[in-house]
This record gives sequence, structure tokens and C-alpha cells, in this order.
Amino acid sequence: MTAKRQSVHGQWNSRWTFVLAAAGSAVGLGNIWKFPYIAGENGGGAFVLVYLACICLIGVPIMIAEIMLGRRGRQNPVMTMETLAQEEGTSTNWKYLGLIGVLAGFIIVSYYSVIAGWAVSYVFKSAAGLFVHDDPQVVIGLFGGLVSSAEQLLLWHTIFMIMTILVVVRGVKSGIERAVTLLMPGMFVILLMLVVYAMFQGSFVEGFNFLFSADFSKLTRASVLTAVGHAFFTLSLGMGAIMIYGSYLPANVSIVKAGFMVAAADTVIALLAGLAIFPIVFVNGLDAGSGPGLVFQTLPIAFGQMPGGIVIGTLFFVMLVFAAWTSSISLIEPGITFLIEQKNMGRGKACALIGVSTWLLGIVTVLSFNKWAFTFTFAGEEKTEGMFDILDILTTNIMLPLGGLCIAVFVGWKMSQASSMEELGLRRSNIGYQIWLFLLRFVIPVVLLIIMLKAFGILQGKS
Ligand code: PFF
Repeated sequence: MTAKRQSVHGQWNSRWTFVLAAAGSAVGLGNIWKFPYIAGENGGGAFVLVYLACICLIGVPIMIAEIMLGRRGRQNPVMTMETLAQEEGTSTNWKYLGLIGVLAGFIIVSYYSVIAGWAVSYVFKSAAGLFVHDDPQVVIGLFGGLVSSAEQLLLWHTIFMIMTILVVVRGVKSGIERAVTLLMPGMFVILLMLVVYAMFQGSFVEGFNFLFSADFSKLTRASVLTAVGHAFFTLSLGMGAIMIYGSYLPANVSIVKAGFMVAAADTVIALLAGLAIFPIVFVNGLDAGSGPGLVFQTLPIAFGQMPGGIVIGTLFFVMLVFAAWTSSISLIEPGITFLIEQKNMGRGKACALIGVSTWLLGIVTVLSFNKWAFTFTFAGEEKTEGMFDILDILTTNIMLPLGGLCIAVFVGWKMSQASSMEELGLRRSNIGYQIWLFLLRFVIPVVLLIIMLKAFGILQGKS
């Protein structure tokens, strides 16, 4: 009986710190940059509904499973999976699930830091009043100017990477815990201020209707698959980030409640971000479906034309930086604990090694927007950012769903029900437990398999 294994590598203060840290991991560029633009590209309401269904039916069950694995194993993802596989009397090759996670985090943080670097640079651009201009093309051009300059991208990527390392090097309690307890409430307060601003200064009703009135004719098979993939990315699932945070969870905390809270916080914040952004976009007569440029091109035009736009725009990008910061910490932590526990490295050395190598890999993304840019077609869609797109597809469409699939199979089929019931503190007769197990065993593996076949181009959807 190892359910009460003590954490060898730190523990959160309370349930609340776990919820804050895991929500900090979940809420990031995915919520504030990506969700509004993919909702915009996919026609709004109907897409949002499918996304919400994915969060409930896939996201929450995997979130609970991943926290549970982490707390039961109480080590880095690789050793956690190895220990649990031994405990369940099954192949120790399950440790490769942990390894895929560590690797995925390593790759994601390399490009995540470059995009987060854009946000850092936009804090300064906004504060300097650069969005205030009569000609919208000039404001749009700021973004082109940034991404076409490898030197500028490298500078902001380096700054963001240093910010991330400065937190993780201090460890779980004085680093991660302190950062999330300051940054998450700060981020949330700014977001609420922006929503209130959008209510009074934006086309709030139009924005609200865009997000919540469903027009199913706009929904394609591709948008359904986008929604599933995004549910994974936005909840930080399938790569060990939630597993490692679960490994710091005190033994007496309810995993089910904590899992629901994190998923709810992530969803509410994505929707609030939509409610802050779309009314401002609409009141200025701009296009909600403008894609990845929505936050970095369309929104700055709006900020430049609105009363108080300099302050509001600057706060918006500060919020984006806070959100990305707490996510990048969680992306890098599984790799660091892996080096500490498996390779007996000190935290400082592990942070330096991971920091420098992910920074180096980030240069690939830096150059994807300028010197090394190339175009290719993937699953019927044209991609223009070469290696950045390849790394994004490799992680979001292949590695995270693969990690999620393995978690579902391990917990659903390999782990004894006695173990999962014990860790979750639930009885077999509990209907919630039965639904959770059914989803993990049958529904989730099938859906995730479809996503991956689609990613490999084996299934071609009409889109
Ligand atoms: N959930 C983060 C976001 O929405 O931006 C991204 C992310 C963080 C993905 C951590 C995966 C992860 F492990």
C-alpha cells in the first residue's frame, strides 16, 4: 500500500496553492491569445459549445487521472510512471509516457517563450503609445517589424526565458508557490477590469452574442478536432505538468474537487478573455476572424483608437505576460525534477541546463518567422511558419494527445480500480466514479485516436 507515499521533492502549502498553481499552468497564451482567435476563425458560439463539451467529457476526466497519477507516484513523471507500473504489476515501459511528457514540455517551452516574448515587447510598445496612430496599417506593421527581426525576437525570448528560470530555480515553495500567489490574482484582477471596460466602452452585446449564440452551420469537422486539441493544450494535459503539480499535492486533498476547480477556472478565464476582446474589436468595426493576429494586430488598433487605450492596452499585455509566465514555469518543471531525481543534479544546475537548452531550441522558432521561414501543407491547411508550425503540430496534435491517450489507457485498463478508488477517496458505487472510468476506458481513447490520425493526415476531413 503506497497511497500515502511522501513527496520527496516538496509539497504545496494547501489545496488552494495547488489550485492556483495548476490554474496558473492551464491559463496562458492558450486562453488569451489562442482561444479567442480560434473561436473567431471557427464562427464563435457553436465552436465554443463544442469546446465546452470537450472540456467536460475529455479534459476533466484526464485532469483528474493525471493529478491522481502524480500524487500516487510522488516523483517526476518518468519515475512516477515506472513506480506505478511496478505497483500495478504491468510493464515498466510505461515510464516512456513520462518521458514523452518531459520531452513535450521541453519542446513547447522553447516556442512558448518566443510568443510570450512578443507579449513582453508589446507591454513596452503599448506604454510608449505606439498604437495611437491614424493609419491602422502602421499599427499592424509593428507586428511585422517585430517578427521579421530575428535579433528583436531573440532579445524578448531571452528576457522571458530568464524570467522563467528565475522562478523555478527557487524551488517549489519560495519559487513557484510565491510566483503563482502573486501573479494569478494580479492577472485575474486585470482581466476583470478589462471586461468591465469592454462592457462600457465596447459593443458588449455583439461580443457576447458572438461567443454564445450557436450557429451550427459554421461548424466543420476540422473545427471539432481543433476544439479537442485545444481542450488538451489549454488544460496543460498529457505532458506531465499537471502530474508534477499533483505530485506536490498533500495527501488529504480531494483530487476530484481540485480537478474540477482548475478546469472551471481555466474555462471561465478563456470566456472572460473573449468577453474582454470581442466587444473592443467590434466597436471599432474590426474583424473577429483575423486569426493569430487578433491579439497582436487587431486589438492594438482598437487600443490606439479608444479612450484610455494606452493604459488598457498596457494592462492587457501585462496580463498576457503574467498568464504565460505561470504556464512556462509548469512546462519546464517536469524536466527539471527529472534531472534532479533521476540524474542526481542540484536544482541550480538542472535549471541552468534546461534553461540554456530550451533557449537554444527557441532559436529555431525565432528564425521560423524570418530567415528560415518556409511554407508547407498539413492536413489540408497551408502553414507558413516552417519549423515553428512543425514543433507546434508535433506537440499539440501528436505528443499531448498521445500522452492523454496513454494516461486514459493506463488508468482505465492497467491500474486496478482498488488503487484509483483509494487515491480518489471514492467507492465503486459512486456514479461519478463509474462515469469517469467509462469515459477513460472507451470514449477518450477513441476520440484521441481520431485526433492523431487526423494529425498524421490519415483521416482527411472536409473543412
Ligand atoms: N495551458 C497553457 C496555455 O493554455 O497557454 C499551455 C501549456 C502549459 C500547455 C503547460 C501544456 C503544459 F503542460
